[in-house]
Order: sequence, then C-alpha cells, then structure tokens
Amino acid sequence: MRLLDAALSVRENAHAPYSGFKVGAAVRGAAGGIFSGCNVENISYPEGTCAEAGAIAAMCAAGEYRIVEVAIVADSPVPVSPCGGCRQRLAEFAAPDVPVTMSTLGAEQKTMSVGELLPGAFGPDHLEA
Ligand code: THU
Repeated sequence: MRLLDAALSVRENAHAPYSGFKVGAAVRGAAGGIFSGCNVENISYPEGTCAEAGAIAAMCAAGEYRIVEVAIVADSPVPVSPCGGCRQRLAEFAAPDVPVTMSTLGAEQKTMSVGELLPGAFGPDHLEA
C-alpha cells in the first residue's frame, strides 16, 4: 500500500468537529510496516491531538521506533504542513534525511526532509553534560 493512501484512508476517521479540518498521517517503520493516525479533537481544545501524534503512537504500540518515510494529507489549499510540535515528534524517531510528503486532497504535493522541517532540532547532543 502506498503511504499516501494509508494517510488518505485514515483521514476519514478524524474527529474534528471543532476545526472541521480532518488530517491523516502515515509513517513507514524501518521494518516496512505502515502506521497511521488522524487528528482527534476535544471540547477542551488544547487536549486535541494531531494526526502525526496518532501515527507515531500506533507505531510505538507495535514495537517499531524508527521512521523511514512520512505522509500527511488534508483538504487544504496548499500541502498541509506539520505543526512545530509534530516536527519535534517526528524528529524523535526519524533521521534528518527522512522524507515527509505533504499533500492536498488534489494532486498538489510537496516533499521536504525532517531536517528541513526542523533545522537545529533539540536532540540528544544537547543533553550531554
Ligand atoms: N493538525 C494535524 O493533525 N496535523 C497537522 O499537521 C496540522 C494540524 C490538526 C490539529 C487540529 O485538529 C486541526 O488540524 C486544525 O488545526
């Protein structure tokens, strides 16, 4: 299955009654598995979670911890861009050269690497004494 198809499919299950903006995300693990997630909003708005967070949680729940490819899709006029928090979440499990394909529901797509999306990421080096 194409990663983008997994993101498109899971997007249908998004719980986004407050923003009306459904997002689907899918990550491919190092062993080849595909894990997907959608945004899940909450009446207490800050408690909502992004699609990327859901996909990453599904991956970890399956015992996979390395991401080799990412796809994100939404019904946006330009390819949907992951929020700052999700860029950091992706960087936790993906090397800087991992491609992130952002897509509209139409044909428009844009691919950037995790390193391009989050230059100068806070990482393990910063914690060393
Ligand atoms: N959202 C995501 O799930 N992923 C993104 O990459 C961008 C934004 C969600 C959060 C919220 O539920 C809705 O889109 C509107 O911001």
